[in-house]
Amino acid sequence: MTTAYHPGRPSADPPAPAAAPRPTAVALPTPTVRVRTAQAPSSPGADPDDPTRPADASSAARSSEDVWDGPLVDSFGRVHRDLRISLTDKCNLRCTYCMPAEGLPWLAKENVLTTDEIERVARVLARVGIVEVRLTGGEPLLRPDIVDVVRRLHAIEGPEGPLDISMTTNAIRLDRVMEDLEAAGLSRLNISLDTVDPERFTKLTRRERFSAVQAGIAAARASGLRPLKINAVAMRGVNDDEFCDLLRFAIDHEAELRFIEQMPLDAGHVWSRHTMVDGAEILAKLSAEFDLEPVGDRGSSPAEVFRVRGTDATVGVIASVTAPFCGACDRVRLTADGQLRNCLFAREESDLLSLLRSGGSDEDVARMIRASIGAKRPGHGIDDPGFLQPDRPMSAIGG
Ligand code: 5AD
Ligand code: SF4
Repeated sequence: MTTAYHPGRPSADPPAPAAAPRPTAVALPTPTVRVRTAQAPSSPGADPDDPTRPADASSAARSSEDVWDGPLVDSFGRVHRDLRISLTDKCNLRCTYCMPAEGLPWLAKENVLTTDEIERVARVLARVGIVEVRLTGGEPLLRPDIVDVVRRLHAIEGPEGPLDISMTTNAIRLDRVMEDLEAAGLSRLNISLDTVDPERFTKLTRRERFSAVQAGIAAARASGLRPLKINAVAMRGVNDDEFCDLLRFAIDHEAELRFIEQMPLDAGHVWSRHTMVDGAEILAKLSAEFDLEPVGDRGSSPAEVFRVRGTDATVGVIASVTAPFCGACDRVRLTADGQLRNCLFAREESDLLSLLRSGGSDEDVARMIRASIGAKRPGHGIDDPGFLQPDRPMSAIGG
């Protein structure tokens, strides 16, 4: 069953920018597959392999067996290996580009996935080919069971061994849990930091937590987790005069900086394509002080990466808007309230929460996941005249 978004229901990572085939104007066909739940199985048709067999029996048998067969592939041939789980829609900051000062109407507690439910969905996804999980929010460290979540997810055996678990966080509270997270099996961290100016930080986040973030970054640096990444959203009139300072900060803290083009995911719907800072401008500003040399082939990575000559550091630009990497997208998202999204910009969600809580089997869950991926569109279409921003803001989706 697909559900419409619930406007106002709120959950963030480097935005896994949605995917659009490389800058090309060719319109790919939109898949017509509809997402449906296993609670309402489609009426069985004839068995294409053996038209003489009774349709109902053959179909039922095939669907329960086939659901575990083959990779999680969409109608454009993209194989899905990366699961993003938003653990909470809440956050201890109020970044102006993300949330209003008063926060958002938070999800009702009873609608948030429990640790057991998260583990179960991840286990099913691992059976159909997911190899890595990124934990996001909101702010994932606000979840009291965060260490347990990491331990339980890392204990799941995926197609390539234990699931690889990473996290995107604003780093507040990280100093308290860093050692436990590492012991639980966390493998990488992305820290969101848009400014290195304490006063500007307070203005941007509407909270005086700059020193808490610095303590978190220090703890991350002291851990064994590498590479340590810092994500900064490039914003005109907010931080576009400090890109070089951000890079110096990252180099000094042994972190790899990734600039992200701002996407239309703000709660206030004020994003404008005309005023956004694009990747070319970010690079031009950095080049004023740094000598940047492109690093190898970008492969399926969303970031275009450069080495900073004279250092061991690299810096990347994630041009989600002007050079979308939708054609290589391998991501599927689970919101804190158990809705499966096949894209950051999807207009529909699949209601896994209801399926789980109405006695759906693992096969039913896998079937719903496959149907959702089967209905994935080719790209985010930000540049299309009819583009509609998702009803949920970034904090409610998980990046
Ligand atoms: N565009 C790009 N990145 C965003 N983030 C939040 N909102 C946006 C947006 N509209 C970033 C956060 C964090 C990650 C979760 O996504 O700053 O790094
Ligand atoms: Fe919180 Fe991230 Fe949104 Fe800032 S961008 S308010 S840190 S969820």
